[in-house]
Amino acid sequence: MSEVAKKCAELIYKSNSIAVLSGAGMSTNAGIPDFRGPNGIYTKANIKNPERIFDLDYFYRDPSLFYKFHKKFLEYITKAEPTFTHKFLVQLEKEGKLKGIVTQNIDSLHQKAGSEKIYEIHGGCWKNYCTKCKKEYSQEEILEKMNIEIIPKCDNCGGVIKPDIVFFGEPVKYLTESEVLMKNSDLVLVLGSSLAVIPAAMLPSLTRGKIIVVNKGEVSEWYLPPEKVALIVNEELDNFFTQVAKEYETLKEG
Ligand code: OAD
Ligand code: ZN
Repeated sequence: MSEVAKKCAELIYKSNSIAVLSGAGMSTNAGIPDFRGPNGIYTKANIKNPERIFDLDYFYRDPSLFYKFHKKFLEYITKAEPTFTHKFLVQLEKEGKLKGIVTQNIDSLHQKAGSEKIYEIHGGCWKNYCTKCKKEYSQEEILEKMNIEIIPKCDNCGGVIKPDIVFFGEPVKYLTESEVLMKNSDLVLVLGSSLAVIPAAMLPSLTRGKIIVVNKGEVSEWYLPPEKVALIVNEELDNFFTQVAKEYETLKEG
């Protein structure tokens, strides 16, 4: 058992108002690639400025770049199952310690695991709408359309359909609710995020308590107030939280 895992378990044990900020690193063990990790979507995209896959202006000019990526992504997420760490968060919520999860992920794995208080600040794939007439489409309908054409179009008006994912150039969702959650927390767990994208990366700093970052790889510390940071753990999430969960159970047994 590492000393760091012990310290993390102690902080979780002592806390009674935990907030989580999760990122794409949460879901790599479920087979969904992240963005900026070694096998990430941006890292492997082999195009200039890969963030334009999610750029709103670019989408309106050429939706095919996004949809080529999205087809693979939907295949990954329909097969994906929640990880050990997703399930550990469900346990903490059931125990009343964890008050909510702010996720940058669009894969719905927190919901699939059974977490209840979730703010999907970057939206999700399960809802889609026509960019012209606003008619709504389900994920299944989009998948069917994508088997026939690269860019799914509206049955009503022929407009391009867009998933309810927050693109660069669009405001994030549930910002106020996420800020309140963070402000009321006495511990924030930042899990599997490079903290490269704002406003998400700014949220943990709002806590009145401490911040623990668990991320294998580089993390931007730009928005992390040093006096609030208890731990920055450069480890794989499920390995680390398997140790934390064991130590946490020992603490509960007293
Ligand atoms: P990133 O890809 O930027 O960061 C994920 C981090 O998780 C990387 O540092 C990885 O090395 C690390 N990681 C991967 N697997 C891990 C594991 N099993 N255990 C621990 N760490 C692991 O993803 P986000 O921070 O979520 O926006 O990116 C933020 C936003 O950028 C995304 O929501 C997306 C993107 O543009 C939109 O889609 C709108
Ligand atoms: Zn339409």
